[in-house]
Amino acid sequence: MNPPIRDWSAQRVWIIGASSGIGAALATQLLQRGAHVAVSARRAEALQAVVADHVDARALPFDFTDQTAFAAACDELFRNWGGIDLVVFCAGAYAPMRAWQLDANDIDRMLDINLRAPMAAAARLIPRLLKQGSGALAFVSSVAGFRGLPKAAAYGPTKAALINFAETLYLDLAPRGLSVFLINPGFVATPMTAANDFEMPALISPQQAAEEIIAGFGRGSFEIHFPRRFTHWLKLLRLLPYGLYFALVRRFTRL
Ligand SMILES: NC(=O)c1ccc[n+]([C@@H]2O[C@H](COP(=O)([O-])OP(=O)(O)OC[C@H]3O[C@@H](n4cnc5c(N)ncnc54)[C@H](OP(=O)(O)O)[C@@H]3O)[C@@H](O)[C@H]2O)c1
Repeated sequence: MNPPIRDWSAQRVWIIGASSGIGAALATQLLQRGAHVAVSARRAEALQAVVADHVDARALPFDFTDQTAFAAACDELFRNWGGIDLVVFCAGAYAPMRAWQLDANDIDRMLDINLRAPMAAAARLIPRLLKQGSGALAFVSSVAGFRGLPKAAAYGPTKAALINFAETLYLDLAPRGLSVFLINPGFVATPMTAANDFEMPALISPQQAAEEIIAGFGRGSFEIHFPRRFTHWLKLLRLLPYGLYFALVRRFTRL
């Protein structure tokens, strides 16, 4: 569905949200495969640790909810690299929340980083990539965006909207020579999920997640979802009528 990315030595990759977890593991593995990698997030020291052994790699710290800061980093990379081949939007925030715990500040925080920031960044990047004549955007969403789930009252809707956004971009941009990837991980053991007080089925490591993402780029898949022993079941649940879906979710989550 997208041209496969297999030869990483020629790729200029910018990963936003790479100071820990999935983004950091992806940056490390792409550097090992010879890609030119720039990493961004707010924590400058953590970013430096990711690129420490790679003279060619760049750390560009900024707050992704600040579009002026994003624009400055974007300009700097285009100037230095002469172009960008792949941008991975991995920055995100999550707080488990039942309906009666909804909090307007938390909702804003998650909407800002999970949805508004990647949408605004895409708006800025797309004209430049179209002018460049090539390039790829990859959005890290979540299986929590497939359908409503307990404890995801604020996080789930942001990820559902991001899935819709990536689908829409794919329809518009693929015929114009740009690639769009949608990455939907299941549970990954990162700082983000460390506070979860429930058993996370099919939990994988950030390194395994990074391997799955790189394999997905290598296949040129639009959607890269993993681990499949978990995501296939969720995709099946997505097809069920509401009555059956709600009953099964209640039964499995006991919530
Ligand atoms: N872990 C899972 O089970 C799982 C499952 C599905 C989807 N995901 C998604 O995977 C992505 C990565 O999450 P993770 O699990 O690897 O968690 P993580 O280790 O907490 O990583 C989140 C990343 O986002 C960055 N970030 C957060 N707010 C930011 C901001 N305002 N500006 C710039 N960067 C910001 C963080 O860096 P700083 O704090 O340094 O800014 C960090 O690098 C997220 O989009 C998450 O929703 C995770």
